[in-house]
Amino acid sequence: MTSHDPAHVARPDAATPADGLPPQLVPEHPFPPVPDTVTGLGLVLRPWTEDDIPAMIAVLDNPEVGRWTRIPAPFGPLDAEARLARGTYGHEIGERIIFAVTEDGVTPVGEVLAFHERSGRERGVELGYSVAPHARGRGLASRSVRVMTAHAYDVLKAERVVLVISQGNEASEGVARATGFVLDEAAEPVEVHANGFDHVARTWVHRRG
Ligand SMILES: CC(C)(COP(=O)(O)OP(=O)(O)OC[C@H]1O[C@@H](n2cnc3c(N)ncnc32)[C@H](O)[C@@H]1OP(=O)(O)O)[C@@H](O)C(=O)NCCC(=O)NCCS
Repeated sequence: MTSHDPAHVARPDAATPADGLPPQLVPEHPFPPVPDTVTGLGLVLRPWTEDDIPAMIAVLDNPEVGRWTRIPAPFGPLDAEARLARGTYGHEIGERIIFAVTEDGVTPVGEVLAFHERSGRERGVELGYSVAPHARGRGLASRSVRVMTAHAYDVLKAERVVLVISQGNEASEGVARATGFVLDEAAEPVEVHANGFDHVARTWVHRRG
């Protein structure tokens, strides 16, 4: 996302992010207030809290997250504090949702995000996700994506929902396929440089049943 992004205007004091997230931008179509929880499919999605800092590190400080996302690697307490603050601010201005993924409302086992599509497409919502290594392979990512896709259409009034996935990220492509997304052949590939890796990311778009 850049300051030329037609769906956003840059805040004058936009800071260089220390949290792997794009600069803070005020969206033209802010999301509505973020609910305390979004539930479904055995999950309770809720905002991160200060008490979750160790759990956030457990979810995000691992080689796969460093390899395939923009989240800083290694990911330590300062990164977690920055991400928590960014989530709180993003919720306030309707710029993004950053939820801890839990099964019981308490213990985070992953993270799921929703934000305005980086392509600048009006009313497009992009999702992101990570699952703690010990909790992978149990459908947590795909269930989180299903719940947030429904939330994007029903509450965020999205016209479409997308995932932007780096080529070679087979786990994430598995999530996309499992949740009804198909490769958007018309979308330009996106070059991503993060954590010393060069990626070519492609857009997957949700096909409504
Ligand atoms: C991608 C990630 C979130 C998947 O989490 P997960 O909870 O293990 O995924 P799920 O259990 O929901 O799996 C969903 C589908 O993907 C498939 N899948 C999961 N991991 C896979 C892998 N390593 N290789 C191939 N397929 C895989 C599953 O088999 C499942 O398909 P199915 O329903 O047809 O059986 C997790 O590996 C992760 O955190 N990776 C690092 C961060 C990342 O890459 N985030 C996405 C950035 S775009």
